Order: sequence, then C-alpha cells, then structure tokens
Amino acid sequence: MAYRKIDVFDTTLRDGEQVPGASLNRDEKVKVAHQLARLGVDIIEAGFAASSPGDFAAVKTIAEEVHGPVITALARAVESDIEAVAEAVKPAERPRIHIVLGTSDTHLEHKFRKSREQVLEMGVDAVKFAKKLCNDIEYSTEDASRSDFEYLCRTIEAVIDAGATIVNIPDTVGYAVPEQWGELIRRLIEAVPNIHKAKVSVHCHNDLGMATANSLAAIKAGAEQVECTMNGLGERAGNASLEEIVMAIKMRSGFYEARTDIDTQQIYPTSILVRELMHMPVQPNKAIVGANAFAHSSGIHQDGFLKHPENYEIMRPEDVGIEKSDIVLTARSGRHALRHRLERLGYVYTDDQKDIFEKIHLRFLSVADRQKEVVDEDLHRLVCDSPIEIPQQYFLEDYHATSTHRGEANAMVRVHISGESIEEKGHGGSPIEAAFGAIDKITKLPSTIEDVQTSSNGKEGVHEVRIRVHYHEQSFNGIASDTDVVKASIQAYLNSLNQLVAIHSGLIKE
Ligand code: KIV
Ligand code: ZN
Repeated sequence: MAYRKIDVFDTTLRDGEQVPGASLNRDEKVKVAHQLARLGVDIIEAGFAASSPGDFAAVKTIAEEVHGPVITALARAVESDIEAVAEAVKPAERPRIHIVLGTSDTHLEHKFRKSREQVLEMGVDAVKFAKKLCNDIEYSTEDASRSDFEYLCRTIEAVIDAGATIVNIPDTVGYAVPEQWGELIRRLIEAVPNIHKAKVSVHCHNDLGMATANSLAAIKAGAEQVECTMNGLGERAGNASLEEIVMAIKMRSGFYEARTDIDTQQIYPTSILVRELMHMPVQPNKAIVGANAFAHSSGIHQDGFLKHPENYEIMRPEDVGIEKSDIVLTARSGRHALRHRLERLGYVYTDDQKDIFEKIHLRFLSVADRQKEVVDEDLHRLVCDSPIEIPQQYFLEDYHATSTHRGEANAMVRVHISGESIEEKGHGGSPIEAAFGAIDKITKLPSTIEDVQTSSNGKEGVHEVRIRVHYHEQSFNGIASDTDVVKASIQAYLNSLNQLVAIHSGLIKE
C-alpha cells in the first residue's frame, strides 16, 4: 500500500538554535545543514535572516551550498524581514519564505495591540509582498492552539488566497493535548474551503511533554508537513523531536498510513553532531538517541534480549545508525549477560570450565555491589588478576633482557610448561620485542598480537600492560603490572596465552 508522504521540516538551525548557549557560527551551521541534507529532511529552516548579519550570512551560505532540501528562513510579517529572507534564500535550488504572525487574542492584545482585522490584513499584505519575491510561501499562525477557531480558519483562508503554499499551525506554547489537537487539524481541513491549495503543517512545542504525540495526532488527522528538531532542541522545553516522529511513523506506518523520506541510519550521526556543536547533551533515557535507548540492564531483560532481541527491542539500533545494543552490567545482571560480555572480550568458558565461570561470577557480584556499573576494564581485572581462574599452562620462571644504544635487544625467557622448563632466546628492536620472540619460540602458538597498551603510574613507578592476542576470530586479553615494564609485558603476554590455551587446549605443543 502506498502511504502518504509526510514532509519533514527541520528547524534545528532556527528554533533549536534559539536555545541559550546553543548558538552556532556560520561554519557550524553549514556543517549541520549538510548533515540534515544527508539525513534526508525535506526542508531546512536555516535561521532568522533579519536577526543578525551573521545569521543572514549563514542562511545564504546554506542556500548556496546545500543541495536537495528546500531552504527557508523565518521572517516576521514586516517587509524588511521578508526582504532579508528572500535575499538570503535566493541562491537555493528551492527557496521558501516563512512568515510568522500570531492569531491568538493573547498575542493580538498583549503583543501587537491590534484588532483581529488589523492583524489579518497585516498577514495578507505580508504574503502578497513575499509572493512577489518568492513563489513558495509558508505562513505560520503563531499560538494557534490558543486561537479562536473561526478566526484561525478565516486567517488561513485569506493567506492561502494571498498566495501561501504552506499553512503551518503551531502549538507555540505546548498547550495542546493529542486528541484535541488532532481534532482541531481535522476540523480545520474540513472548514477552510481553499485548504486543498496549500499543504497543512504542524509545529509543536514540548511544554507538557506532548510535542511528539501532538505532532503524530496531527499527522493522523491529515497534516502533510511536520516541523521538528534534532534531539528535540528548541525554545523552553523544546520542539517535537525529529527522531521520535520519524521512527514512530516508520515503526507504526500501518497505523499512521504515512511515511517519510528520512534515511533513518543517519539519525544517530546527526544527533551526535548536533549535541556536540550545540553543546547540548542528551539525557540518557531520551527515546531513540539517548545512551540507554538500546541498553539493557536488568537480568530478566538481558536474558530475554540475548535469547531473542525482539523480546525487548521494537527496533534495531542499526536502523537509527547505532552500532549495536548494549548489555549494561550492574548488580541486577544475570549470568547470561556476564557470559555474553566476557565472550565479547575474548573470555570464553566451555561447559568443562563451569567452575571457573562460577568463581568469576561471584567476584563480579561483589564488584557490582560496590559499583554502579561494571565496565570492560573491571571484567579484564576480574579475569586476569586471579591466576586461580585460568589454569596456568605457561608459568614464567626467569627472564633476562639487554639492549644497546643502537636499538638492538636480546632476551632470554624461561617458562615452566607441563612439568618442564623451557628456555629460549629472542632478538628485536626492544627488550620487550625480544622477550616476545623468545616466548613465541617456546609456545609455538599460531596466535598474533593484536594490541599492546602500557600505562604507568608515575609516582609509584608501576607499569600496567594489557595485551590482546587474536586467534580464529577470538581475542584473548592478558593484563599484568610490575615496576619492571619488561616483566609486566612478559607476564601479560603469558596471561593472554594462558587464556587462549585454556579454551583451545589442542594447540599446546608437547
Ligand atoms: O513556535 C512557534 O510558533 C514558531 C513559529 C515561528 C512557527 O516557532
Ligand atoms: Zn517554535
């Protein structure tokens, strides 16, 4: 079934950018606009052109450089504002002028101090003036949710007659509730005789936390354009969030009988860019893009998710550009989650190693009780710091390493293996490399070293070395610390090899 296309009008660079502390310079705005084009928005509201020379320049550069979406900017119903927008958006492939003028009695009496008829005339004159400069004109009836219905309809009819191509119905103060708001849009579409000559748009704010619900109710009632911002940024409690609306339409397309042209895999990259450039962090539990949106933390959920993701996820993280779901380890996590996270780090425990896993689980619980979250670092420690967990196939007996100022090094390493001592020599560019060469001769394992990380505690002179070895698409991690960095490295390497042979015992050469 061919669903109705909903135009996504992004106002992150205008309503979103009005947030204190979120303002962007021209280059940053252009960067965001390019990303919005990649995301596939239909319209970019690039700014408020008359507000400052900087914003005018940003809108103009976006109009020149960003291809694909309609480019618009906001103007009050005054000629100088309209001229500024017309000039700034002129280079765009598809320019639009967006005019805003209030329709509620509150705004008429306390903002404009004008009668309904006077304001209506102002609006019509503004559209007629703008129409001479640009063909695509959007008209916003500011504070529509608190406006008299009959006056709202009269205004919309008049501005469409004057040439408006889009009529935007804003819930400027976030006062609407979904059922009423949807009903208002439905009645309005029925009541305005020339409504078919323009597209109906909605623009909702989140003062009561209902911006997304209200926008969706309006779409269900027939709105064809939705105005929103990335991460829900915007005046006060923000605007309707683009990612929520788009994903709700995608996940419930059958209910809304609608679709958008958004490339949903670009949602997360766009969200990250916006939060970083606008210095606006996103709350962890924010739908779609928050850090916890695809994270599972309770044991019951983790077990269910690992058995079958759809048990606890309605959408795949990859669909919104997030790499993968997260299993967060806390004191509420169970064995299934712990095993999964350990396996991701290369620590695989077979059925024969059940006792080892149980010991690690007990240790995990005591760490989890002390900490809010157990992270990968903690897991490495849990496993590697305790020689009892993994049978020590290779046990360091002795070593000796020397180096010259010419960058040549020699090492001798003696390792105890299955009741006998084996000694080998190695050469290399550093004592550590030489020692690793000697170990490779002793163990003859087919693994490769993937990563070596060394950190030092300056004051106490302790070096901590982490080594990751790779074998057969699995990683095995070893960690060790010592005041002697060569010894710590040898021990970390042997620890990682002990992990490897604990699982692949067939690799041990007699
Ligand atoms: O909230 C509002 O009414 C606006 C208009 C400019 C659409 O931002
Ligand atoms: Zn707004």
